[in-house]
Amino acid sequence: MTLRTRFTDLVGIEHPIVQGGMMWVGRAELAAAVSNAGGLGILTALTQPTPDDLRREIERCRTLTDKPFGVNLTILPSVSPPPYAEYRKAIIDSGVTIVETAGHRPQEHVEDFKAHGVTVIHKCTAVRHALSAERMGVDAISIDGFECAGHPGEDDIPGLILIPAAADKLTIPMIASGGFGDGRGLAAALALGADGINMGTRFCATVEAPIHERVKQFIVDNDERGTNLIFRKFHNTGRVAKNSVSDQVVEISARDGAVFEDIRPLVSGAKGRTALETGDLDAGLVWAGQVQGLIHDIPTCAELVGRIVHDAESIIVSRLAGMVAEQVTA
Ligand SMILES: Cc1cc2nc3c(=O)[nH]c(=O)nc-3n(C[C@H](O)[C@H](O)[C@H](O)COP(=O)(O)O)c2cc1C
Repeated sequence: MTLRTRFTDLVGIEHPIVQGGMMWVGRAELAAAVSNAGGLGILTALTQPTPDDLRREIERCRTLTDKPFGVNLTILPSVSPPPYAEYRKAIIDSGVTIVETAGHRPQEHVEDFKAHGVTVIHKCTAVRHALSAERMGVDAISIDGFECAGHPGEDDIPGLILIPAAADKLTIPMIASGGFGDGRGLAAALALGADGINMGTRFCATVEAPIHERVKQFIVDNDERGTNLIFRKFHNTGRVAKNSVSDQVVEISARDGAVFEDIRPLVSGAKGRTALETGDLDAGLVWAGQVQGLIHDIPTCAELVGRIVHDAESIIVSRLAGMVAEQVTA
């Protein structure tokens, strides 16, 4: 048995499970392991210091898998933005056929990717943004509910509402993101109208995730209350794991007249990278979602994807189908 959806057909994968772009985590080891497991692994472009490093990382991923994989390009507002057009060119020149875009104003990137025949999945957190991306010509939407790690947006709509609300309006395939970690979640996402799931935090707690063991164990030990919302005041909300750094960010931000400069030293990407690489859990921000409450082990990606698909299939075929009874008349 297998779960075939519009999304698996679109990108040519076996199972409707995607590993979303993750800064510092989305490297070749993880993306290849997810793709080899039958899902869609995704490299994170900006984790590579230069566009040429990205070209080499794409080549390295190709030595680890012959299955389809994608590249994430995250477009964040920045005073000194990375050379997005050069990263985009590196992706196109390397012959990558699937891209996940995320963030602000993706139009220029979507147009160029589409002109080069790339399949574009746009990740966003609101139905109106999903519809605008659909009009732009993207091939699929990844819709991220309020539960998610990363940037859930400012609307605070959880997946239980956001996924069916988006499914009602979109015509292109859609994957559900934020809070997914097991077969129950996959079955639920399909029932809500999605064509698959996207996971971030769950894939951090796998054997192949290129981060320190202590971070993986931290995710396992945390429960669903183990996150903080940061940057709310600055309209760029982020959901991260609760630790001494994110607690401090929340506390400082709540002070009267607090400005971003007050927290800037705490939240640098370099410090977050140190936390992930050294396992010093208080070195910086550790990005993780509420789904930590459903993560209890550190399997290989193959074990994880296999288990999620198996569990979703048996929920659909046995548990749910078994509840649909003929009406019994007395
Ligand atoms: C460590 C980490 C880093 C992330 N970095 C990015 C990123 O650079 N770009 C992006 O689009 N999403 C990023 N995300 C969000 C994920 O791609 C995905 O949308 C999110 O994790 C889904 O929610 P979940 O963690 O509940 O599965 C990151 C998530 C995590 C856990």
